[in-house]
Amino acid sequence: MADELHNQTVTWRELWNETADLIGDRAHARWLCEVASSSARPDEFLAELDQAATVRMVSHLDAMLARYRAGEPVQYVLGQWSFRHIELAIDRRVLIPRPETELVAEVAIEKAAAIGPTRLIADLGTGSGAIGLAMAYELPREGTTVWITDVSADALDVARSNIAGLGPAGRNVRAALGSWLDALPADELFDVIVANPPYVAVDSPDLEKAVGDWEPAGALFAGPDGLDDIRTIVGESTSRLRKGGWLILEIGADQSEPVRELMAAAGYVDIEVRPDLAGLDRIAIGRAPSSTT
Ligand SMILES: C[S@@+](CC[C@H](N)C(=O)[O-])C[C@H]1O[C@@H](n2cnc3c(N)ncnc32)[C@H](O)[C@@H]1O
Repeated sequence: MADELHNQTVTWRELWNETADLIGDRAHARWLCEVASSSARPDEFLAELDQAATVRMVSHLDAMLARYRAGEPVQYVLGQWSFRHIELAIDRRVLIPRPETELVAEVAIEKAAAIGPTRLIADLGTGSGAIGLAMAYELPREGTTVWITDVSADALDVARSNIAGLGPAGRNVRAALGSWLDALPADELFDVIVANPPYVAVDSPDLEKAVGDWEPAGALFAGPDGLDDIRTIVGESTSRLRKGGWLILEIGADQSEPVRELMAAAGYVDIEVRPDLAGLDRIAIGRAPSSTT
């Protein structure tokens, strides 16, 4: 689209309109133009609408448009995505952070904020770092330590780059490579363990095609019933939580009953499942069994 404009002066207003006409989505067109124009904030982009784009910026927009039109999710094309109050760099090595996961983080923040003066938190399977880094950013700097872990070295590289973008709160974050609880220091008991693990059943007919085509399989699938990783985390967390500590899990909309049963069998108390914004049961919460010390 913009190729023919390389040698002409073109403003961001024109590029936004042309991009919107081309892809049929004005909001996505604006996001693509914002990133191509290197606007740090949306209001900066609006202030620049009548300024000319440089050739380099138009080339960047062209490259993003080619990816977008090939079906790549807009979040990967942009290379960044907002999660609660933070901006995360993302690419195909990590899951795209979802709105329902923002609610999981909210519950984890609520539970952790009630603990003090210090709070030790683990976000297992951190991907981009979304949950753990939002927690580090929103909880008091004083006394908060957040471990973020992943079994994927690629994902942990992305999360590490996002720690760097977190500012002073990043000093409260520790990153570790490894499978679920094995990644954590053996001699620590945690106040809050939170995870958005893979929970899609292999061969699930419900998985959106774009998700299966573009997002990492290791972030999605968890055995024949989608519960393999949840079983491991529920079973292994009991001995890693301090007495009264919380386990908070994002789960699939049809997993509420089996996850309640798994938590009850492992001895968790005060078990509840909260809905997401669509009213679907997506956030499982339990308190560590009282035998944990
Ligand atoms: C559904 S994604 C969630 C990513 C991120 N927490 C979020 O909410 O956007 C699941 C993550 O768990 C990681 N994972 C898969 N198996 C794991 C394991 N055995 N131990 C630790 N992390 C694992 C994947 O690499 C992926 O980053």
